[in-house]
Amino acid sequence: MSRVFSGIQPTGEPHLGNLLGAVRWWIADQRQGDCFYCVVDLHALTIPGDPAELRNGTLTMATLLLAAGLDPEACTLFVQSHVPAHTQLAWLLECTASVGELRRMTQFKDKSARGGEEAARAGLFTYPVLMAADILLYDTDRVPVGDDQRQHLELTRDLAQRFNSRYGETFVVPEASIPPAGRGDRIMDLQDPDKKMSKSSESAQGTIGLFDDPKTIERKVKRAVTDADDGPDAVRYHPATKPGVSNLVELLATIQGRRPEDVAADYTRYGALKADLAEAIIALVEPIQVAYRSLASEPGSVDAVLRSGAKRAEGVARATLARAYEAVGLTLPT
Ligand code: AMP
Ligand code: TRP
Repeated sequence: MSRVFSGIQPTGEPHLGNLLGAVRWWIADQRQGDCFYCVVDLHALTIPGDPAELRNGTLTMATLLLAAGLDPEACTLFVQSHVPAHTQLAWLLECTASVGELRRMTQFKDKSARGGEEAARAGLFTYPVLMAADILLYDTDRVPVGDDQRQHLELTRDLAQRFNSRYGETFVVPEASIPPAGRGDRIMDLQDPDKKMSKSSESAQGTIGLFDDPKTIERKVKRAVTDADDGPDAVRYHPATKPGVSNLVELLATIQGRRPEDVAADYTRYGALKADLAEAIIALVEPIQVAYRSLASEPGSVDAVLRSGAKRAEGVARATLARAYEAVGLTLPT
C-alpha cells in the first residue's frame, strides 16, 4: 500500500481552492493508500498572527477536514506540533539544504516581499525545509497538493536524494501528486484571475470561503471578474486570453468532473454559467457546513481523533528520525 502524506495550514479562512486542489483528493485517496494528513500549525508561525486565532484555527481546520469527508478509521489525521520529530528532523535537513536553494523558493520571495526580506522571519526562509521533514518522516510515496507546492516538492526530493547520497539510503524519495491542469490544480482569485485564490488574499470578494453562506457565494460568483465582451459566444475556455471566464469554467468542470472545454461548449453568455456555478458550489459546500456544525458541537470527539492520530504518527515518525540520527552520527536516547 502506498504511503500518502499532505498538510494544510490552520490560519486564514479555508477556501474552495484548498478543497478542489487538495482536500478532495485526500478524501479520494484515503481508502487507496496509508494516508497521513496533518494540520501544520508550526508553519503558521512563519508570519505574524494571533495565538488565540492559531489555537482556534487548528481545531476548526481539523473539524472541517473531518466534515469534508476524512474518516479517522481510514486515515491518520493529526497536528504537526504534537509530533516533535517534525522539528527534530527539520534541523538535520536545514544542515542538508543550502541558503542558495532556499533563496530561490518563489513563495519565500512573494511572502517576504510584503514586509521586506530583512524583516521576514527566519522561519519563513526555512519553511520549505520543515515541509520536507513533514513528508520524509513518513516514508511518503505520494504528496497530493495544489500546483503552488510543486517547487517545494522538488526541493523535498532534492534534499532526500542529497541526504541519501551523503549518509546512505535513509529516506523514500516522494512524488508530487498534483491535479491535472485545469481540474482544480490552480484555482484563481475571482476578482483577480491572475492571482491564485489564497487564504492570505486581501480581497475576501475574490475568495470563496468554505464557510460562506449561499447568498454570499451567489454574490461573489455573480461579481466575479470576466472579460469585457459578453456577446453570444463570450463563454470560451482559453486561460491565456480569457482568464476570468476560464477560471469559472474550470471551477464548474472540476466540480462536475468534466473537461473544461466541454463545459464551455454548454454556455454562451456569462450569466447562465455564473448561475449554474453558484448552484454547484453551494451544493458542494452546504453538506460540509452541516457536518461541520454537528462535529463542532462535540469538540471532545475531534480532540480524541487528533490524540490518537498523533500517537500513530509519532510511532512512524520516530522510527524514521532514529534512522536519520543514526545516519548522521547522532544518537537518540532510547
Ligand atoms: P494552504 O492554504 O497554503 O495551507 O494550502 C493547502 C493545500 O491547498 C495545498 O495543497 C495547496 O497547494 C492547495 N491550494 C491552496 N490554494 C490553492 C488554489 N488556489 N488552487 C488549488 N490548490 C490550492
Ligand atoms: N506548504 C504547504 C502549503 O502552504 C503546507 C504543507 C506543510 C504541506 N507541510 C506539508 C503540504 C507537507 C504537503 C506536505 O500549502
